[in-house]
Amino acid sequence: MRIDVVTLFGEYLAPLELSLIGKARRDGLLGLHVHDLRDFAHDRHRTVDDTPVGGGAGMVMKPGPWAEALDAVVAAGRAELGEGAEPLIVFPNPAGTPFAQATAHAWSERPWIVFACGRYEGIDERVYEHLADAGREVALASLGDYVLNGGEVAVLAMTEAIVRLVPGVVGNAASLVEESHSDGLLEYPLYTKPASWTAPDGTVRDVPEVLLSGNHERIAAWRAEQSLARTRERRPDLLA
Ligand code: ADE
Repeated sequence: MRIDVVTLFGEYLAPLELSLIGKARRDGLLGLHVHDLRDFAHDRHRTVDDTPVGGGAGMVMKPGPWAEALDAVVAAGRAELGEGAEPLIVFPNPAGTPFAQATAHAWSERPWIVFACGRYEGIDERVYEHLADAGREVALASLGDYVLNGGEVAVLAMTEAIVRLVPGVVGNAASLVEESHSDGLLEYPLYTKPASWTAPDGTVRDVPEVLLSGNHERIAAWRAEQSLARTRERRPDLLA
């Protein structure tokens, strides 16, 4: 899978060198390319923003650098993947469609995603028109109902959620099957050894008896019940 990120703050993406995602890159399962939007601003100050036409607070990102950057990234990706390759261009945006586990699954099957990180109040609307006219596939994705300073943190979260679902990235694929949201419910409680643990305050805390029974059917039934109870308590919206 190829992922391109266009941003003003490439340093924000440094954590993608670490852990599972870093290993996926070293193993050749993920090609990650970070591009500086300022490389596509050509005035002396490499300006990427300006005041909003019509008035209002804050700054708006200029259309020129974005159009040029995204066109260049598409051309570079096609040089690697083939002239017919078509990326999904994702703008992280609090006004976008909620990004969920189902989104991560769908996007993990894409060969190529381009993330475009906006900052300030937003990007000039004509960038989206330019992309639509060029036949590009575009999505606006929100991490949640709160406002971040820019798209970079959202890209970190989305990239991790997507790339861990790419076959071969997570060593034990079975661990992806029973985690929270994999079946629309929250995950059941987990325990490890010792079966009887004495907490620092002296209280003895035992693992639920059913988990020691060796009866796989009873264990599965208990876990399903716990998942449902947890979901009902913490996320009733998921049951609706
Ligand atoms: N950019 C700013 N806030 C965001 C959010 N909640 N989700 C995605 N991108 C954002």
